[in-house]
Amino acid sequence: MTQAAIRKLRFSFRAGALATAVIALTFFLAPGTLHAQSQCLACHGDKSMGHSLYVNGKTFSASAHGVLQCTSCHTDIKGFPHPDHVAKVQCSTCHADQASDLKGSVHASHACTSCHGDGNPHAIFPKSDPRSAVYPLNIPRTCGRCHGNPALAKKYGLPNVYSMYMDSIHGFALSKEGLLVAANCQSCHGSHHILSHKNPQSPTYKTNIPDTCGKCHAKIEAEYDAGIHGKALAAGDLKAPVCTDCHTAHAILNPTDATFRMQSTPICGSCHKEKLTTYRDTFHSQLGMFGGYVETARCWDCHGAHDILPASDPHSRINKANLVETCGRCHAGANASFVQYQPHANPRNRKLSPGLYYVRLFMNLLLISVLTFFVLHTLLWVIRSRYNQIKNNGSKGGKDA
Ligand code: HEC
Ligand code: HEC
Ligand code: HEC
Ligand code: HEC
Ligand code: HEC
Ligand code: HEC
Ligand code: HEC
Ligand code: HEC
Ligand code: HEC
Ligand code: HEC
Ligand code: HEC
Repeated sequence: MTQAAIRKLRFSFRAGALATAVIALTFFLAPGTLHAQSQCLACHGDKSMGHSLYVNGKTFSASAHGVLQCTSCHTDIKGFPHPDHVAKVQCSTCHADQASDLKGSVHASHACTSCHGDGNPHAIFPKSDPRSAVYPLNIPRTCGRCHGNPALAKKYGLPNVYSMYMDSIHGFALSKEGLLVAANCQSCHGSHHILSHKNPQSPTYKTNIPDTCGKCHAKIEAEYDAGIHGKALAAGDLKAPVCTDCHTAHAILNPTDATFRMQSTPICGSCHKEKLTTYRDTFHSQLGMFGGYVETARCWDCHGAHDILPASDPHSRINKANLVETCGRCHAGANASFVQYQPHANPRNRKLSPGLYYVRLFMNLLLISVLTFFVLHTLLWVIRSRYNQIKNNGSKGGKDA
C-alpha cells in the first residue's frame, strides 16, 4: 500500500467518524466484550489494507498466540487512532528463556521470526503442529532458508549443508518417509543455544558427538564406548575417531551402500596408514581394485566397526583365539591353519614375508610380460589388417575403373 493510499484511508476513517464511533462504542463500551483482537481486525482484517498491514484473523486465532490480545504484543497501542509507528514487538517479555539462550548463540543477531512463522509473525504455531516452521519435518527447510544459500555460506565461511543433509539417510527418512524420529538439524545442534563445533559446550564439539548421536543410537554408542576408539577418546586422545569421522555429519549414508563400503577403507586408512598399505597388497583388497564394487573383506569385517579392540584383548575379533570364527564368517571351513594367512603381510618386505615377496615378484613379472605380449600382438594385428585393406582396395579399384 502506498503512503498516499494509507493517508487517504486514514482520512476516510476520520471522515467517517461516525462509523468509527460506532465501532468504538460497540467494542469499548459493551460490558465484558473488550476484544482488542476484533477491534484491530475491523481494520487490519481487511485485505484492502495491503499486504504488510493485513492480518489474517482466522490464521492468527488458530496460532499459538490466538489466545492473546493484539495489544499483548503491540504494547504501545492504547487507543484509537493509534500512532503511525509502533515499537517493535519484544518476544522476550514472555519467552525469557529462549531469548537468553539465543543471545549467547551464533544466531544472536537474528530475530525470533527468522525461524518462527515462515515469514508471517501472526502464524506462529506450537512446535508439535505440522503447520509450525519448527515442526520436526519442517526444521531442515527452515534452517535451510539460510544454510542452503551458497552466498551466505561463502560470506561466513560455512559449509552449505542443506543439500548434503537432504540426500543423507536422515534427510531421506525425514523428508521421504516422514519419520519424525529421524535426526533433523535440531536433534544434533539444539534450537536456541546453537554454538560452533569449536566450542567445547556445543553438542557438535568432537568429544560430545558420541553422546549426541547416542541419544538415538544408544546401543552403538555403548559398543563404541567399550571399543579402543571410545576408550582412547575418553582418555583424552583427540586423534581417536568419533561417529562423524567415519560417517560424516550431514552426508551420512546407509552403511550397506556400496559407496560407503568403498570409501570406508580409506577412512580407516587415513589414520592407520601402514595397515592400509599392507591391506592393499593382500588378496582381499586387490579384489576391490578392478573397477566397480566387489564384495570382499573390508577393515571392519575383520575388526568390527564400533567395538574394535587390539589383538591382545581376548575379546578382540582378531585375537588368535577368535580368528577361526572371524574368518569363518566368509570362509566356511576356515581352520587354524587357514587363519595363518596374514591379512596385513607386507610383501615388499622380503625378510618378513619371503613367500609373499616372491609371489608378488612373479605376479608382477607375469603381468608385465602378458601386457607386453598383448600390446605387441595388437600392434602387429593392426598393421597387418591395414596392409590387407590397402591391398584389397587396390585390386577392387582396378576392377571398377
Ligand atoms: C481504524 C482502523 C485501524 C484500527 C482499528 C487499527 N489500526 Fe493499526 N493501522 C491502521 C493504519 C491505517 C495503519 C498504517 C499507519 C501508517 O503507516 O501510517 C496501521 C498500522 C498498524 C501497525 C504498524 C505500525 C508501524 O509501525 O508500521 C500496527 C502494528 C498496527 N497498526 C496494529 C494495530 C493494533 C494492534 C490494533 C488494535 C489494537 C490496530 N492496529 C487497530 C489502522 C487501524
Ligand atoms: C505474539 C505477538 C503478536 C501478536 C499477539 C500480534 N502481533 Fe502483530 N506483529 C507481531 C510482530 C513480531 C510483527 C512484526 C513487526 C515487529 O517485529 O514488531 C507484527 C506486525 C504487525 C503488523 C504490521 C506492521 C509491520 O511492520 O509490518 C500489524 C498491522 C500487526 N502486527 C497487527 C496485529 C493485529 C491486528 C494483531 C491481533 C489480531 C496482532 N498484530 C497480534 C507480533 C504480534
Ligand atoms: C535458529 C532458529 C531459531 C530462532 C532464531 C529462534 N527459535 Fe525458537 N525454536 C526453534 C526450534 C528449532 C524450535 C523447536 C525446538 C524443539 O523441537 O525442541 C523452537 C522452539 C521454540 C519454542 C517452543 C518451546 C521450546 O523452547 O522448545 C518457543 C517458545 C520459541 N522457540 C520461542 C523463540 C523465541 C522467543 C525466539 C527469539 C528470542 C526464538 N524462539 C528464536 C528455532 C529457533
Ligand atoms: C504476551 C506474551 C507473549 C509474547 C510477547 C510472545 N509470546 Fe509466544 N507464546 C505466548 C503464549 C501464552 C504461548 C502459548 C503457550 C502455551 O501454549 O503453552 C506462546 C507460544 C509460543 C510458541 C509455541 C510454543 C510451543 O509450544 O511450541 C512459540 C514458538 C512462540 N510463542 C514464539 C513467540 C515469538 C517468536 C514471539 C515474538 C514474535 C512471541 N512468541 C511473543 C506468549 C507470548
Ligand atoms: C536467517 C538465517 C539463518 C537461519 C534461519 C539459521 N541460521 Fe544458522 N547461521 C546463520 C548465519 C548468518 C550464521 C553465521 C553466524 C556468524 O558466524 O556470525 C549461522 C551460524 C550457524 C552455525 C554455526 C557456524 C559456526 O561454526 O560459526 C550453526 C551450527 C547453525 N547456524 C545452524 C543452524 C540451524 C540448525 C538452524 C535451524 C534451527 C539455523 N542455523 C538457522 C544464519 C541462519
Ligand atoms: C546427525 C547430526 C547432525 C544433523 C542432523 C545436522 N548436523 Fe550440522 N553439524 C553436525 C556436526 C557434528 C557438525 C560439526 C562439524 C562436522 O563434524 O562436520 C555440524 C556442523 C554444521 C555447520 C557448520 C558449523 C560448524 O559448527 O562447523 C552448520 C552450518 C550446520 N551443521 C548446520 C546444520 C543444518 C542447517 C542442519 C539441517 C539441515 C544440520 N546441520 C543437521 C551434526 C549434525
Ligand atoms: C534424533 C535421533 C537421531 C540422532 C540424534 C541421530 N540419528 Fe542416525 N538415525 C536415526 C534414525 C531414526 C535412523 C533410521 C533411518 C532409516 O532407517 O530410515 C538413523 C539412521 C542412521 C544411519 C543408517 C543406519 C542404517 O542401518 O541404515 C547411520 C549410519 C546413522 N543414523 C548415523 C548417525 C550419526 C553418526 C549420528 C550423529 C552424528 C546420528 N545418526 C544421529 C536417528 C538419529
Ligand atoms: C571407526 C569408524 C566408525 C566410527 C567411529 C563409528 N562408526 Fe558407525 N559404522 C562404521 C562402519 C564401517 C559401519 C558398517 C558396519 C557394517 O556394515 O558391518 C557402521 C555402521 C553404523 C550404523 C548402522 C547399523 C550397524 O550396526 O551396522 C549406525 C547406525 C552407526 N554406524 C552409527 C554410529 C554412531 C552413532 C557412532 C558413534 C557412537 C559410530 N557409528 C561410530 C564405522 C564407524
Ligand atoms: C581419526 C583417526 C582414526 C580412524 C579414522 C580410525 N582409527 Fe583406529 N585408532 C585410532 C587411534 C588414535 C587408536 C588408539 C591407539 C591407541 O591408543 O593405542 C586406534 C586404535 C585402533 C586399533 C587397535 C590397535 C592399536 O593400534 O591400538 C585397531 C585394530 C583400529 N584402530 C582399527 C581401526 C579400523 C578398522 C578403523 C575403520 C573402521 C579405524 N581404526 C579408524 C585412530 C583412528
Ligand atoms: C581379512 C581380515 C582383516 C582385514 C580386511 C583387515 N585387517 Fe587389520 N588385522 C587383522 C588381523 C588378523 C590382525 C592381527 C595380526 C596382524 O597384525 O597382522 C590385524 C591387525 C591390525 C591392526 C593392529 C592391531 C593390533 O592390536 O596390533 C590394525 C591397526 C589394523 N589391523 C587395521 C586395519 C585396517 C585399517 C584395515 C583396512 C585398511 C584392516 N586392518 C583390514 C585382520 C584384518
Ligand atoms: C567379509 C568376508 C570375508 C572375511 C571376514 C574374510 N575374507 Fe578372506 N576372502 C573373502 C573373499 C570374498 C575372498 C575372495 C574369494 C575367494 O577366493 O574365496 C577372500 C579371499 C581370501 C584368501 C585367498 C583365496 C582363498 O580362499 O584361499 C585368503 C587366504 C583369505 N581370504 C584369508 C582370510 C583370512 C585369514 C581371514 C580372517 C582373518 C579372512 N580371509 C576373512 C572374504 C572374506
